[in-house]
Order: sequence, then C-alpha cells, then structure tokens
Amino acid sequence: MEASCAARVGGATLRVEGSMTEKAAHWILKGSAHDAELLRLHALEEVFDEHTCRLLREKIGVQVGWRCLELGAGAGSIARWLAERIGSSGSVVAADINCRFLTDVPPNVEVRELDAAVADFGTEEFDLVHHRSVLAFVSGRDEALARLVASLRPGGWLLSEEALNNEYVVAGDSDDKLLARFVF
Ligand SMILES: C[S@@+](CC[C@H](N)C(=O)[O-])C[C@H]1O[C@@H](n2cnc3c(N)ncnc32)[C@H](O)[C@@H]1O
Repeated sequence: MEASCAARVGGATLRVEGSMTEKAAHWILKGSAHDAELLRLHALEEVFDEHTCRLLREKIGVQVGWRCLELGAGAGSIARWLAERIGSSGSVVAADINCRFLTDVPPNVEVRELDAAVADFGTEEFDLVHHRSVLAFVSGRDEALARLVASLRPGGWLLSEEALNNEYVVAGDSDDKLLARFVF
C-alpha cells in the first residue's frame, strides 16, 4: 500500500513515503515501544500467515469442533483464523506470556497468560498445538515441547514453526520439514 506520513523531529520535517502500510509509516516517525511491538507482530503475520494457514488447512485439515492451543499467540491472527475455522463447537486457547494484544477475540477463544517455560498445558487436551517463533524465547524449550506433546489428544497434531528448530522435526515431508504429527 502506498502511504506517506510526516513529523517534526529535532527541528526538521521528516517524511516517509512509499510502499509500506500507513501504520508502519506512522510508527517510524511517531511510534512508542508498544506500537513498535505491535508493528513487529503484524509484520510477522503479514509475512508468515499465508504459509501457516495453508499448512493448517491443506496439510493438517483443521476441522470444525477442534480444540486448539495457539502458544505465543502474539497479535492473535492465527488464533482468530482458527476460531473461525473450528466454529462455535470448537475452542482455541490463545496463550502468551504477555496478552496485551489479545483483545477483542471471538467468544470461542480463551486468552491465557502463561510462561511456556513452566506452564502446565494439561494432558490429552488438544487436537492441535501450534507455535511460531516462540520456543526460541523460552528457557527449557525441550521440556516445554515435551509438555506440549503431552497436551495432544491421541492423533492430535503439533505444528512447530521455529527458525532454529530442525532438531524438532519428528515427521513430515521434504516440503514441510517443520510439520510434525504425533500419534500415540
Ligand atoms: C516473535 S513473537 C511471535 C508471535 C506469533 N507466534 C506470530 O508468529 O505471529 C513471540 C511471541 O512469543 C511470546 N512469548 C515469548 N516468551 C514466551 C514464553 N516464555 N511463554 C509464552 N509466550 C512467550 C511473546 O510474548 C510473543 O507474543
């Protein structure tokens, strides 16, 4: 999107124009740390959501009525997408260590503030667990991953999208190495 924004900074007028969202232009010139974090999260969503949703739709085939855990939900786009897909008979737990951006969510989304380093995700709770760019920030991530796996129902899916985590590839195929299915 073409946008432009101008601000007075140190006696000079700065102008940002070009191919960026209006939000991005606004933040560069006038933003706060809160805005900066939200912008960062929206940038991640813009870049990765299409791929993530394709995996959820075409590889995993998320179904109406599923119970899902979206760990490190960030600004919440995937939690909202899942909520729409699973309908009112399903539910999504949108979990994050800081839930400040998880407002105004649909009724089938439960927002849960937790630290994945220590959280108990329950046993055989979820048909799907998804996390993207989260475990890199979690201390004891192997243990966290083991607790996430334990929270899956028999036949449930774990979709793990982490930049660092070839080590977490358990199954999948050559196109989607970070797709793992755990069957008990
Ligand atoms: C890089 S952002 C990714 C957000 C979202 N998953 C996405 O891809 O759009 C990392 C997210 O993980 C959350 N996070 C970081 N450490 C966490 C922890 N120990 N437990 C739960 N969430 C955590 C952050 O608050 C942030 O929302």
